[in-house]
Amino acid sequence: AVMEKGNYRHFMEKEIHDQPEGCQRTIAAYVDTLTDRTAVPGGLDFKAIERIQIVACGTSYIAGMMGKYLIEKLADLPVDVEIASEFRYREPALNAGSLAIAMSQSGETADTLAALRYCQAKGMKSAAIVNTVESTIAREVDVIWPIHCGPEIGVASTKAFTAQVSVLTALAVAAARARGRIDEAEEQRLVRVLLEAPRLIAESIQLEDAVRGIAVEVAKARDVLYLGRGPMYPLSLEGALKLKEISYIHAEGYAAGELKHGPIALVDEHTPIVILAPFDSYFEKSASNMSEVMARGGQVVFITDPDGERHAPAGARVVVTAPRCDPLIAPLVMSAPIQLLAYHVALQKGADVDQPRNLAKSVTVE
Ligand code: G6P
Repeated sequence: AVMEKGNYRHFMEKEIHDQPEGCQRTIAAYVDTLTDRTAVPGGLDFKAIERIQIVACGTSYIAGMMGKYLIEKLADLPVDVEIASEFRYREPALNAGSLAIAMSQSGETADTLAALRYCQAKGMKSAAIVNTVESTIAREVDVIWPIHCGPEIGVASTKAFTAQVSVLTALAVAAARARGRIDEAEEQRLVRVLLEAPRLIAESIQLEDAVRGIAVEVAKARDVLYLGRGPMYPLSLEGALKLKEISYIHAEGYAAGELKHGPIALVDEHTPIVILAPFDSYFEKSASNMSEVMARGGQVVFITDPDGERHAPAGARVVVTAPRCDPLIAPLVMSAPIQLLAYHVALQKGADVDQPRNLAKSVTVE
């Protein structure tokens, strides 16, 4: 079918706005709304899995990293995540009791496919989180975990990312329950929280006007730093990746705690610093990093929630206030502001948002 942009200027813009629906359809495939329990297709026993090895590239790799944060915390199940092109060549030590998960929107990324085959050759069971269920990767695994966000056309991935994170969140809850780390009541509470995500993502997309204003300033920068802790660390990597992909501004995502080990040397009044910090257990530490960069003249763009806004250190020039939510779904709710920031900075710069230079939607060469 010919894909249409409807009233949107770019596929990327449309796909950002598609996310509430894409996540809703995806989540619906991994939970049972009659019982509020998880219902992960494929019949895999999470008790029998010793470790998970995720292999992926690009945005899918960052989604995988988010999966590590979610699954290890909730289910106490070790997860390794690696860039497929490194993994396949460095002769990693693996054991057959691990589950390999190939994470790929297209299901055709050559390095991801090769890394998957490497795991299978070591006797590991395999699963794939893919958008294209007819893809090569999907055909070669034991279990297919589809995302249901619809075809993604924009080269910079947006709705596939939040759909991947939706699946990983459901897997984390299911694994936690299967491994006895949470009881049934807690499983039900978390499933209800997850089911709230689409509505809250829709609310956070409403921040577009605020973000558009910030983009005018960010577009003037030569370098942009993104900082976050916990699950906001992978999200800061994704924010930086989105910005460099489509606006060609150099950007780096950093674990906020690493600030003092290097990137703080970059901070001056010309460097916007995007700090991702909802009011969670990491907040105080992130707020103190914020004070550190402000003390050095850094221009902070603070992406938080209503409680974080109230507790923000004085002097944060620009605050983007996403809706309040349970920490389980903060990665989903905080995604839209960083995607929209990259999008509007790219528009400011007149860049070709859907077809950024030198990039391809799917990389089938090694
Ligand atoms: C390319 C695309 C990225 C994507 C990556 C992995 O680099 O430009 O947007 O994240 O490939 O693609 P996959 O289809 O495996 O998720």
